[in-house]
Amino acid sequence: ELNGFPHYMLKEIYEQPETLANAMRGRLDDSDSTAHFGGLNLTSQQLRQIDRVIMTACGTSYHAGMVGEYLFEELARIPVEVEYASELRYRNPPIDRSTVMFAITQSGETADTLAALRESKRMGHTTLAICNTVGSSIAREADGGVYLHAGPEIGVASTKAFTSQSCVLTMLALYLGRTRHLSSVQGQAIIDNLRQLPEKVRQTLGCHERVKGIAAKYAHVRNVLYLGRQYLYPAALEGALKLKEISYIHAEGYPAAEMKHGPIALVDADTPSVFLVPRGSVFDKVMSNMQEIKARGGPVIAVCSPDDEEVASIADDIIPIPDVPEYLQPIIAAIPLQLLAYEIALLRGCDVDKPRNLAKSVTVE
Ligand code: M6R
Repeated sequence: ELNGFPHYMLKEIYEQPETLANAMRGRLDDSDSTAHFGGLNLTSQQLRQIDRVIMTACGTSYHAGMVGEYLFEELARIPVEVEYASELRYRNPPIDRSTVMFAITQSGETADTLAALRESKRMGHTTLAICNTVGSSIAREADGGVYLHAGPEIGVASTKAFTSQSCVLTMLALYLGRTRHLSSVQGQAIIDNLRQLPEKVRQTLGCHERVKGIAAKYAHVRNVLYLGRQYLYPAALEGALKLKEISYIHAEGYPAAEMKHGPIALVDADTPSVFLVPRGSVFDKVMSNMQEIKARGGPVIAVCSPDDEEVASIADDIIPIPDVPEYLQPIIAAIPLQLLAYEIALLRGCDVDKPRNLAKSVTVE
């Protein structure tokens, strides 16, 4: 079952080129430069009427929802709010008829997400699931949805589900964008970039040896910061969650520019910061945030574009990742962060597949 891998988590990290290909199989349509989904169960008129989206989820799936917020707003121009299911279920936010609720969940059994979905349905809202587990409670109770087709995820730390959720959300944003302002040329460019994704992820996995070396250097620390902006802010949150849940090191993810509003006080020689800083629209801004950390004596590990001398001249360690458009960067950047958490947890003697105090499906409130 482990296919020669020492842990499910590592196996699932390495499956990602394939699970992403599975998420896209049969869904990309070159003739209309859009995506298609079998199970949304909405008419094209209903789809065009969507003028607001609420995404609800927990943990890693919540971080994928945050990636979805950036995607839907940029590619489909639809306003999005992302809510922790555990909070949404006890709130009573004003929601009108043209709002669609997405419940995002790997297992389809998370109690808080299920409760939020039921509450939303009770109020009469269209409620769709982005789910991995076929026939799960959330998949059955939603009005429609999209399966990830990522195969069973056994490791408690969610890895391949996050990248597949982000991929499905990209395709949904493409689809909704194409019913609105996105031209066929823009749509086709997104399709072409999506098609290259499995190969880019395969290349990214090549960073594993380098990540091992970096893990050995930092495995003893007690605090780590993860910093990114825009699409890479949710990826920073996800990197921090991976590290804390399997290595028991305290980690925080922050939008890089928020550091100066308080958390930068934490920075010292024993508190490394993982910067997500591939080339893109906010590159210069993130670089100046990185300088601020260096100036305060904090070690910097930078996930960056290939051959980026500017980053290499400042960072203590670099992890180059292949270039992709900004809306796909969270998927690529997740790979070294998953590997880093895995390697650090191993060095600390932690049970990576079954971390203490955690269960794979959280079926209690
Ligand atoms: O099955 P779900 O996607 O609904 O699970 C949500 C969270 O419990 C889950 O992502 C959790 O945060 C993971 N252990 C994170 O790696």
